[in-house]
Amino acid sequence: MNKIEAIFRPERLNNIKDALSEVGIVGLTVTQVSGRGSQGGVEVTAARGLGTYRIDMLPKVKLEVVVNDPDTDRAVDIIRTNAITGAPGDGKIFIYPVGDAIRIRTGEHGSDAV
Ligand SMILES: Nc1ncnc2c1ncn2[C@@H]1O[C@H](COP(=O)(O)OP(=O)(O)OP(=O)(O)O)[C@@H](O)[C@H]1O
Ligand SMILES: [Mg+2]
Repeated sequence: MNKIEAIFRPERLNNIKDALSEVGIVGLTVTQVSGRGSQGGVEVTAARGLGTYRIDMLPKVKLEVVVNDPDTDRAVDIIRTNAITGAPGDGKIFIYPVGDAIRIRTGEHGSDAV
């Protein structure tokens, strides 16, 4: 089992959720976050010649989804291909091994619980 943590542009969320559902990946968690990448935010030009300023924390969505090992590469690929615009700020994907999962209602463990 792996946890995929993906941070991407908020407007990409619906496409990503729909594409994951199509391959049977339904359970997931979404959080509205703010963050910065390697450019440290964006430079913004103020109106009426008042110069520029920097917005360093930009709104993003963080999606967390735990999947079984054989589904990991496919899920990562779906997230990436639906998140990409090609411009800076498209986001990041982190992958973590998961020790166990438990479905609270039934007590099932491991891959049965995902
Ligand atoms: N090293 C990191 N650790 C944790 N979160 C990160 C990291 N890098 C980026 N993020 C998160 O991902 C979001 C998007 O990052 P972003 O896509 O700008 O990364 P980047 O490395 O600057 O790539 P790009 O050059 O394509 O913009 C950030 O706002 C932040 O929330
Ligand atoms: Mg960036």
